[in-house]
Amino acid sequence: MPRPSPQTSRRSSHRPSKRPSGPSGPGAEYETEALDGLEAVAQEELKQVPGVRDQRGSRFWFPGDPTRLTRLRGSVAVYRIKTFDVPRPKALLGHQQLGELSAFLLPVIAYGGHGSFRLSAAGRESSTMRRLAEELETSLGIPHLPDEGELLIRLRPTENPNRQVVAPPPGQREEERRAPSPHGERNSRANYQGGGRGAARTGAPPRWLRDADPAPTESWDEEEQEAAPEAPFEEGWDVLARLTPRPLSARAWRACNMAGGLNATIAYAIFKLAGVREADRIFNPMSGSGTLLIERDLLGPSAALVGVDNDPAAVRCAQQNIQAAGRQIEVAEVDALNTGLPPRSFELIVADLPWGDAITVPGGNEALYTAFLREMHRLCSRQGRLVVLTHELKLFERLIAEQDRWHAHELFQVYSGGHHPKAYLLSRN
Ligand SMILES: C[S@@+](CC[C@H](N)C(=O)[O-])C[C@H]1O[C@@H](n2cnc3c(N)ncnc32)[C@H](O)[C@@H]1O
Repeated sequence: MPRPSPQTSRRSSHRPSKRPSGPSGPGAEYETEALDGLEAVAQEELKQVPGVRDQRGSRFWFPGDPTRLTRLRGSVAVYRIKTFDVPRPKALLGHQQLGELSAFLLPVIAYGGHGSFRLSAAGRESSTMRRLAEELETSLGIPHLPDEGELLIRLRPTENPNRQVVAPPPGQREEERRAPSPHGERNSRANYQGGGRGAARTGAPPRWLRDADPAPTESWDEEEQEAAPEAPFEEGWDVLARLTPRPLSARAWRACNMAGGLNATIAYAIFKLAGVREADRIFNPMSGSGTLLIERDLLGPSAALVGVDNDPAAVRCAQQNIQAAGRQIEVAEVDALNTGLPPRSFELIVADLPWGDAITVPGGNEALYTAFLREMHRLCSRQGRLVVLTHELKLFERLIAEQDRWHAHELFQVYSGGHHPKAYLLSRN
């Protein structure tokens, strides 16, 4: 067993285009998307990004090259957004609006290297959406792949609080007027962690992969000069175009995928809320594919960072990911309930516990969780913290209520991949 070792609007006839003006100068408007339950963490991260201004929740203005936005760790996606002065999506099929829509989308494709597109909107199967997809295939020059398109284009009624609800004309389909569920597409895609494709198809890698830390470029702003409205519309439709072919949660370091692998934005949120302290010796029992270890290491140095898993395939998987991330983190094949480590070895212990059918000990998860809480109490320093992520909410809360070693409070509950796990922060009584 390795010892912890030191290491690191208004609807009207079309108005003439004006140079875009964010609240204090040129820029483009964006919106981030986070898993349900992690919005506050994502918005807090956004606040720290130099250049972000006029932040209203997850929507904001940003000048120049958006590469910095594609490095957000708490969001699953970042979109460029534009409000179109139209009463319903059908109006986007008009010559002028279609031109504006293409002019809005083409720079996103040039930036992200997307090789195909798909539409996400209420009434995705409607004749309007089918025609829009056909028109866009021609003007964007990439195929429409309804389920797998890399450029995700979302349409929804604009969320301007001054918006007046206009009665639909007779015969208009209800789903064309309704907002799509903000999470409709998210939950199936946000947890996707496979390899990307679009970048390779274009030959050179897209800019968001190429540029380490580029300075804002003129050309990105120039695209906007004819595009952004001067003032918000009181009604209209928002078009959102995802900047990257894959969700931001599909990390570049993920060379190895494992069933039960954690969405990386959840790992990020855990550490942001549990505290990132350089003096912490950190233990990740049951480390699986290494998501928590890598995301913690990327947040900054620590006094020690060690992971264990009793499944050799998981250890190999974590090592592959750690190598792909270019980090040096110790992971060993060890039973987390029997590490042989001295008492009080760690200031922070973080675990994503097995759940459901993934039962690993006789007696099932109740026996496993009970033994886990006992052993982690031994390994945790006096002022230490233990963070537990679990889907077994009833079981975990009952076990906490039945013992007096730990005091627990809920950090967050998140909706991810069709599940609602909770993260708890525990301190020693
Ligand atoms: C939910 S998965 C962790 C997933 C991980 N967070 C990731 O992102 O890949 C739980 C892990 O606990 C491991 N495990 C179960 N019982 C264990 C034990 N007694 N000691 C060490 N690891 C154990 C399993 O092999 C599995 O990899």
